[in-house]
Amino acid sequence: MKKFITFEGMDGAGKSTHLAWFAETLRQRGQDVVVTREPGGTALGEQLREILLHQTMAMDTEALLMFAARAEHIEQVIKPALLAGKVVISDRFSDASFAYQGAGRGMDWEKLKQLEAWLHGDMHPDLTVFFDVPVDVARLRLANNATLDRFEQEHGEFFERVRAGYHRRVQENPQRYAVIDAAQPLDKVTAQLGAILEAI
Ligand code: TYD
Repeated sequence: MKKFITFEGMDGAGKSTHLAWFAETLRQRGQDVVVTREPGGTALGEQLREILLHQTMAMDTEALLMFAARAEHIEQVIKPALLAGKVVISDRFSDASFAYQGAGRGMDWEKLKQLEAWLHGDMHPDLTVFFDVPVDVARLRLANNATLDRFEQEHGEFFERVRAGYHRRVQENPQRYAVIDAAQPLDKVTAQLGAILEAI
């Protein structure tokens, strides 16, 4: 059984809806599941989330705050839950920093790898479900949202880079990822997710 599972994808890919279904199905099968998210997941992390989502800042500041929130999240939530034998499902994790701060903003990939190595140690997700969707489809879905945060307000080219960043991560470590075609209708995506659930 894979214990540390992360969900990733562009804004508008639909991952949060599917994450709730995935967690609930695992619970019905008797698993003790902790659902959490990034940036956030702890009291301090949620405060950092507010700042990160709404305040303009330099690229390095943004990356460091993402990883600061993550350090707290790993120590306070993820490690203790895994040690207690629980399944942890996080709505985003370090892949998002590579996709958004790395590919999206242009921060050096190797610097992000150093931060990842420093803060993760040997703790990496056992499985990452990546919701892949063309940028125009994701943006169409976002158009229904009343308010958009600082990332969601970015332009199409930014999101093309974010998507390419996710693809680069998948290529660098393909065995960790399950890639979902999230452009499909809800029931089809749920079916893809169901197959992943059976596999783990
Ligand atoms: P998300 O939880 O998907 O927002 P929502 O509540 O709208 O579903 O993610 C918040 C934003 O943070 C998202 O636009 C991506 C961004 N983000 C980064 O840029 N880097 C990171 O490391 C993380 C974890 C998130």
